[in-house]
Amino acid sequence: MQEITIRRPDDWHLHLRDGDMLETVLPYTSRHFARAIVMPNLVPHIATTKMAAEYRERIEKALPAGHNFTPLMTLYLTEDADAEDIVSGFHSGEVTAVKLYPAGATTNSHSGVRNIETVYPVFERMAEAGVTLCVHGEVTDPEVDIFDREAVFIERVLEPVRRRFPDLRIVMEHITTSDGVDYVKSAPDGISGTITTHHLIINRNAMLAHGMRPHYYCMPIVKRESHRLALRKAATSGNRRFFLGTDSAPHLDADKESACGCAGVFSSINTLSCLAHVFEEENALDKLEGFASLNGPAFYGLPANEQTIRMVRRDDAIEFPGSIETKSGPVTVFDPMFPLHWDVVA
Ligand code: NCD
Ligand code: ZN
Repeated sequence: MQEITIRRPDDWHLHLRDGDMLETVLPYTSRHFARAIVMPNLVPHIATTKMAAEYRERIEKALPAGHNFTPLMTLYLTEDADAEDIVSGFHSGEVTAVKLYPAGATTNSHSGVRNIETVYPVFERMAEAGVTLCVHGEVTDPEVDIFDREAVFIERVLEPVRRRFPDLRIVMEHITTSDGVDYVKSAPDGISGTITTHHLIINRNAMLAHGMRPHYYCMPIVKRESHRLALRKAATSGNRRFFLGTDSAPHLDADKESACGCAGVFSSINTLSCLAHVFEEENALDKLEGFASLNGPAFYGLPANEQTIRMVRRDDAIEFPGSIETKSGPVTVFDPMFPLHWDVVA
């Protein structure tokens, strides 16, 4: 039987939600992952260090006994953000990063940034203090086609910000295009990119070619096959600038299977099995540890996890549930459309 042992992974982009949903989804992450960058797009959004600390406490309270998991908290950047609060939250260890949502780009982003220059004074303070900016990299200009929004964001927003604040540490999150890959690869130090599990596996045909599949609808939207291949190459290349951010984003089925469905793929249950499958297909199982467990902490200046996980390749396909139950209804689990054989055993 084939097997691999890697340092315990971290998830550098995760939606845990709150309340009942938090309690339901958290154990699927905390059983395998040691840490996660927790997204702040709740309602109301996590705007201050105090709110982040309270949210962290709710997450810690929801952890199953025996799970060893550290939530790394983020603040939601608004045009009236308080730079002093960001910097003091960072220095106290309560805040790991700040999240930029262009207003209207995705779930609960309406309080995000409309005019990027209004937050330049905040970027200045963050650059001085070494606070990482996590970026949802899409423009929201209605004139720009949804499939082009990442490439246009790089040109109109990201590159001008990088030039103006060369010391600002930036994670271009959930990159979905070869443009994103090329940008991260060729940018100066201090720029990294996360890649989701599902963008390594599905292209836009999965969402649109065989009926409209709301459970493959997410932001940034899945792109054409050539982009998926570029992402796979980047993730499995061993380049330290790329690391895992699952962007596991649970929504109730009722909210996704609707005339105006929510964006988000819930993948935390089978993410590691999916990733091992992808890395094996790319003959790069030896690169999985870098992508899932080493490159992220190196970027954030944190130690890699000491503990390890072991994965084995079973002959029989592993049965994952098609959906999980919350008190408000089911949440569909990401279906990679191929059988999964890699299992986390310890
Ligand atoms: C995320 C969510 O539901 O919060 N949705 C998604 O499609 N990824 C928000 C986000 O990260 O864009
Ligand atoms: Zn997300």
